[in-house]
Amino acid sequence: MAKKLFIKTYGCQMNVYDSARMADVLAPLGYAPAADVEGADMVVLNTCHIREKAAEKVFSELGRLNAVKRARAETGGRLTIAVAGCVAQAEGEEIRRRAPYVDIVVGPQAYHRLPELVARATRAAGAVLDTDFPPESKFDHLPAATAASGPSAFLTVQEGCDKFCAFCVVPYTRGAEYSRPVAAVLAEARHLVGAGAREITLLGQNVNAYHGAHGKTEWGLARLIAALAEIDGLARIRYTTSHPVDMDEALIAAHARVPALMPYLHLPVQSGSDAVLRRMNRGYTAADYRRVVERLYAARPDLALSSDFIVGHPGEDAAGFAQTCDLVRDVGYAQAYSFKYSPRPGTPAAAWPDQVDDAAKAERLAILQDLVEDGQRRFNAPFAGRIVPVLFDRVGRRPSQLAGRTPHLQAIHVDLDDDGAAARLFGTIAPVAVTAAHVNSLAGRIAAAGSVTDDVANGIDAAHRAPRAAPEAVLR
Ligand code: 5AD
Ligand code: SF4
Repeated sequence: MAKKLFIKTYGCQMNVYDSARMADVLAPLGYAPAADVEGADMVVLNTCHIREKAAEKVFSELGRLNAVKRARAETGGRLTIAVAGCVAQAEGEEIRRRAPYVDIVVGPQAYHRLPELVARATRAAGAVLDTDFPPESKFDHLPAATAASGPSAFLTVQEGCDKFCAFCVVPYTRGAEYSRPVAAVLAEARHLVGAGAREITLLGQNVNAYHGAHGKTEWGLARLIAALAEIDGLARIRYTTSHPVDMDEALIAAHARVPALMPYLHLPVQSGSDAVLRRMNRGYTAADYRRVVERLYAARPDLALSSDFIVGHPGEDAAGFAQTCDLVRDVGYAQAYSFKYSPRPGTPAAAWPDQVDDAAKAERLAILQDLVEDGQRRFNAPFAGRIVPVLFDRVGRRPSQLAGRTPHLQAIHVDLDDDGAAARLFGTIAPVAVTAAHVNSLAGRIAAAGSVTDDVANGIDAAHRAPRAAPEAVLR
């Protein structure tokens, strides 16, 4: 009898990719996808350890799963519970202690061993734990991606991190930096395009540190992107997440030269204060970052930037925070994610004495998020009235509605004449006249073929960037 598998994914896009690969590796064992926990024989929680909140969610979800498991057992049924991802890696023993009913604990580098772990779990009592960093790469032992991932696909090209930012768990949970060989990446990309992908987002914790083997040489990310751009049918390429230090000349030039490389880049800065950046071990100053941004804008004037920020990192005072706000105003982000610093066990910053109190963190976060929202509004507003090419990758709330993404990664909703038009347009790139610009999304209607505003820049120019606001004190 077919068994059913439900995977719940937390955290980053790499986890989304990993979840799909876990489904692939379990399919030969007879596991088909389930829509929810109730319909599943096995549940995998693919977890995130980046901040405390993310990690704690897992334990409360496990409590709920245990109730289902118990109810199942009373009627002679069975629910296998697996915890994967970065919480599994970092807190394997803690999971065993706090949630002894968990059957499998598997770290991100051991997913290719899942079939064996499942077999062992059905025999053994108590959790089967695999949080090794095996000498073999999981990528060499996972089956080729099977499930069609839709018009917009993720492809992990690099994993792990050697940067050791003082606040971050990733170097401990994902391990040392590793780049997949060029041939494997190209083969997977062709497969995805063959299955209907029009857009591929290259993933890696430090994706622009990519240095994949190509025969006896090594390719950087720029070279890989140029080769991917040759694939027939692949219209859009993106990559995330990048580190400012690895933003080399070739990659910046790729933004000018490769039309398929979309004019949007997530380039986390974390802070605008040199003192904080030094404490964070980021390896650049605010001025270094601004220079990288200027070079990027010079290469691709319509580039939209996004970033991550941490407020209240140990050592951040009011003046340091104000420098972060200045940077946000100057760069003119199209989007950004900001977080309160969350001390993570085992990371250097967690042990530092000059922790910032939570009230200050909350106040700074609110100020920063307002600033970011202003920026988003300013970025989106000029799109009203323009015609932009949209890749329709999601169905809307009604059958006659589609959702998609602009080149600048704005979400856009489009009402169509009828359900048939929606079915026809799904998975294609079509010109859309923007009728409304909101803070987090756009709305539009289909426009005539060939009517895209400014087909070189696909939209806007550097004018969206924030006017240089007077540097008034942000915290009064
Ligand atoms: N506390 C708060 N935010 C963090 N991030 C990483 N570690 C922490 C932490 N300990 C944020 C960074 C990173 C993003 C993925 O999560 O901004 O870029
Ligand atoms: Fe974490 Fe820093 Fe590596 Fe990013 S570069 S994954 S923040 S250690």
